[in-house]
Amino acid sequence: MTLAPLIELNDGFKIPQLGLGTWPLNDSEVADAVVEAVSHGYRHVDTAKKYGNEKGVGNGIRACGVAREELFITTKLDGEFHGSGKAIAGLDGSLERLGLEYVDLLLIHWPLPRRDEFVSTWKTFEELQASGKVRSIGVSNFKPAHLDRLFSETSVVPAVNQIQVSPSIPRSVARSFNEQHSIVTESYSPLGASSDLLNAPVLSSIGGKYGKTPGQVVLRWHVQQGLVAIPKTANPQRMQENLDVFDFELDQDDLTKLQTLDGGPDAGVDSDVQGH
Ligand SMILES: NC(=O)c1ccc[n+]([C@@H]2O[C@H](COP(=O)([O-])OP(=O)(O)OC[C@H]3O[C@@H](n4cnc5c(N)ncnc54)[C@H](OP(=O)(O)O)[C@@H]3O)[C@@H](O)[C@H]2O)c1
Repeated sequence: MTLAPLIELNDGFKIPQLGLGTWPLNDSEVADAVVEAVSHGYRHVDTAKKYGNEKGVGNGIRACGVAREELFITTKLDGEFHGSGKAIAGLDGSLERLGLEYVDLLLIHWPLPRRDEFVSTWKTFEELQASGKVRSIGVSNFKPAHLDRLFSETSVVPAVNQIQVSPSIPRSVARSFNEQHSIVTESYSPLGASSDLLNAPVLSSIGGKYGKTPGQVVLRWHVQQGLVAIPKTANPQRMQENLDVFDFELDQDDLTKLQTLDGGPDAGVDSDVQGH
């Protein structure tokens, strides 16, 4: 059984480099998926209040047969919990649905800059971290400008920034900004979600060299660059496949070829205008 390597966060905690994405699985589907994933070696699960499946994730955790402290559980609070103090009840609600005493990572799901409340929300996250109900705190969909505001107006540097990243949306500028500030970049939609990415001929051609699938080439691209990735599937064979990316290495020629998939600076979501 493969266990993903651990990456150290700026607060000393460690995150498994590959986790299970859970959107849009419902409570019952996700409980089964978590049990199945853990049996393949997954120790990291990504959920959110907005996904409506925290209860199922909790049921899966209790049924999976691996101790709570060996698992890394992330949840996120959306716009409903923006504003001073609102995340306190938000986290309590998530913990109750999950049936957990703490989560490993709590993220602000979107910056929603037009509401201009992410700074006060982050200050509440700092209090939550001190309370022990969450180990690491981080953000999602934050651009460098949003992070700059946190740096100048608050005390704790986010441990993680979960953003949309794949070979077609490489977000090189955002990733190097995160890295310069000791923030781990976590890639969501790492396989390109519902896009056509996995059908790109360059992926099957590179995969052919190593006996790997297009999905494995893409996930190797993430882990080889130090990114954390959370591919979603409820399919047991794909779960296994997605974790089986630690026994080969892309060479420079492969990485250069993968650059041809870059969709340009306007590809992907724009969190100045999108979010919930
Ligand atoms: N922070 C945010 O704002 C945000 C936004 C979006 C997503 N997320 C998180 O990130 C997770 C992953 O992102 P995502 O679900 O958008 O996209 P993704 O993981 O890139 O892609 C999921 C799609 O890829 C398919 N797939 C999975 N493994 C495959 C394989 N080995 N070969 C071929 N196809 C494969 C899945 O199909 P099957 O399910 O049929 O296998 C599903 O259709 C989400 O589940 C969620 O936890 C966060």
